[in-house]
Amino acid sequence: MIGRLVVIGLGLIGGSFAKGVRESGLCREVVGMDLDPQSRLLAVELGVVDRCEEDLALACQGADVIQLAVPILAMERLLGKLAALDLGTAILTDVGSAKGNVVRAARQVFGNNLARFVPGHPIAGSEQSGVEASNAELFRRHKVILTPLPETEPSALQVVDTLWRALGADVEHMQIQRHDEVLAATSHLPHLLAFGLVDSLAKRNENLDIFRYAAGGFRDFTRIAGSDPVMWHDIFLANREAVLRTLDTFRSDLDALRDAVDAGDGHQLLGVFTRARVAREHFGKILARRAYVEKMSTNDLVFLGQPGGSLKGRVRVPGDKSISHRSIMLGALADGTTEVDGFLEGEDALATLQAFRDMGVVIEGPHHGRVTIHGVGLHGLKAPPGPIYLGNSGTSMRLLAGLLAAQTFDSVLTGDASLSKRPMNRVANPLRDMGAVIETAADGRPPLTIRGGQALKGFNYTLPMASAQVKSCLLLAGLYAQGRTSVTEPAPTRDHTERMLRGFGYPVSVTGPSASVESGHTLHATRIEVPGDISSAAFFLVAASIAEGSDLVLEHVGINPTRTGVIDILRLMGADITLVNPREVGGEPVADLHVRAAALKGIDMPLALVPLAIDEFPVLFVAAACAQGRTILRGAQELRVKESDRIQVMADGLLALGVKCEPTADGIVIDGGPIAGGEVHGHGDHRIAMAFSVAALRASAPIRIHDCANVATSFPNFLALCGQVGIRVSEEGKS
Ligand code: S3P
Repeated sequence: MIGRLVVIGLGLIGGSFAKGVRESGLCREVVGMDLDPQSRLLAVELGVVDRCEEDLALACQGADVIQLAVPILAMERLLGKLAALDLGTAILTDVGSAKGNVVRAARQVFGNNLARFVPGHPIAGSEQSGVEASNAELFRRHKVILTPLPETEPSALQVVDTLWRALGADVEHMQIQRHDEVLAATSHLPHLLAFGLVDSLAKRNENLDIFRYAAGGFRDFTRIAGSDPVMWHDIFLANREAVLRTLDTFRSDLDALRDAVDAGDGHQLLGVFTRARVAREHFGKILARRAYVEKMSTNDLVFLGQPGGSLKGRVRVPGDKSISHRSIMLGALADGTTEVDGFLEGEDALATLQAFRDMGVVIEGPHHGRVTIHGVGLHGLKAPPGPIYLGNSGTSMRLLAGLLAAQTFDSVLTGDASLSKRPMNRVANPLRDMGAVIETAADGRPPLTIRGGQALKGFNYTLPMASAQVKSCLLLAGLYAQGRTSVTEPAPTRDHTERMLRGFGYPVSVTGPSASVESGHTLHATRIEVPGDISSAAFFLVAASIAEGSDLVLEHVGINPTRTGVIDILRLMGADITLVNPREVGGEPVADLHVRAAALKGIDMPLALVPLAIDEFPVLFVAAACAQGRTILRGAQELRVKESDRIQVMADGLLALGVKCEPTADGIVIDGGPIAGGEVHGHGDHRIAMAFSVAALRASAPIRIHDCANVATSFPNFLALCGQVGIRVSEEGKS
């Protein structure tokens, strides 16, 4: 609560601030001051202020906060006049679109006496102007940037911050120079280009004709050329240095585009356009607070699973996640253009795709699962412009670590909260043995900082755990290492990397549990057809098995023998699954899976099948809950370090639904029986959310599943496919 706010300059911004604060009740009196008598009259009439003054000294008497809302070039003179007054302990703040020049002017007149000056800039406006357009809601959900000086008193900053927040603004604090640079690039440069382009076209003789045909593109691009010329003239004079820097960078990028057009360099053009297009989409999603693909909603997306129903029909699940990742990686490193069909457009695989775009690879799509990758060869990657963000995707981070350890440039790999907790020493340590230089956060967690320019040496490595990610990471590093890199695994894990390397014409030798590569060969572009993901099909295999009367065909599912543990385990439990029309597509075995409801029984899960079903256990636990008798899993401690601790969170959820179970260090014991309805948590783990959606089929009441947004990492159309086959699960609040 403050006593008196004085707003100098009653235009759109000053008027809206005055009106908003007045309505907020945070201030006893709001006083306005403007040189224009008409504006002063209107301001009182419209309830923008309590009273107005013509004289600056009178207006500022007894002020607690003085807001300077005059045009930016008028600020200098105003500050000079204010310095001549006794302002007591009043806090001074402003709304200028450039901050460096305002602060310079303030220093000139106030010297070092700026402890109560809080420079600010609301990023809001409207094509209307004047006090009559004052709108108390103008700043709601808009950013306001405050750029405190080193000597600004925290209490003064706090008051200004509180006033803006009371108007619903999203307040951020920033360094002055950074503010001016960001605004020069994101606001000032686009305005300069819009004004410049319209003027340039209008000057031409044929302008009438041009404007007659200038429909969407021209109109959209130049909308902002309708802004107030005087205000913008002020801004360019005020933010001269930062505008010149961003303009010069843009000029050289524009020259490069000109050269590409001149030289007929379609590759260069495609690179710029595809990167720009995703950047634009990404930006739009950031604005709407969404990630790479439309997350199914905000923070807590709740799925509501209704009990009962049976599954019928034929469906195709989305493309295999592991194969989609690898198709981008190897396609990027190949010589020539690789076409991919059936690519999984989920967030994890898109994170890999974006990483390679960041490293200069031109990638078209994805569009309906089709991706075209213009390979740059093994030595053609470029340094990314900043840290590579990999979202939720452990596979992206671990495989990329191997590849990046061997590049000439440095890189930093980061991820979301879940990925930031996952162990990375399992790849960092063996890579260091090969000569890589990698730093991690405490306990080997991300981010990973990888130093380029190291000469790697091939070696023989025996994996301490069955992990296809670690194996693949080291084989990718091995493509660059001196001599031979050989990896021996304690149990078979998915071999997509080995198969796909061969598909790209790169020799890989496999003897028993060991796979090895030598450097010195090249990858040749190829066509890849990504089969349906058996890990996604697994939800429907279990669902159709446990829902009475079900009869379902899952088309074109990958049945690589290193991935079919889920089928073997379900069959041991009594499931009725047949493989129809087995065939080979691009080096990977594929079949249609026909599944019918069956009475399941509890089993002791064979140890050898654990790595072959490693991603399918959450839904297999649901099968166990529906089976007659006891199911025991051992040797699956890896589940504790997946996207969540899958043993613990599944046990917690099953217990909440009344299922008898007991987690152990490396597995779980589950006694089949009735499933009640209730509340469970997805813990941001896609497979937990989908597993409990399936459980609802056999529950006695609805199941509410919290935190389901990450289903989009691997199965963006999960709810739609559920609806299609007869699983009644939906986003809460939507039918
Ligand atoms: C994957 C390997 C598995 C699996 C993950 C994908 C891969 O991880 O859980 O979802 O694509 O190589 P680990 O190899 O760490 O077990």
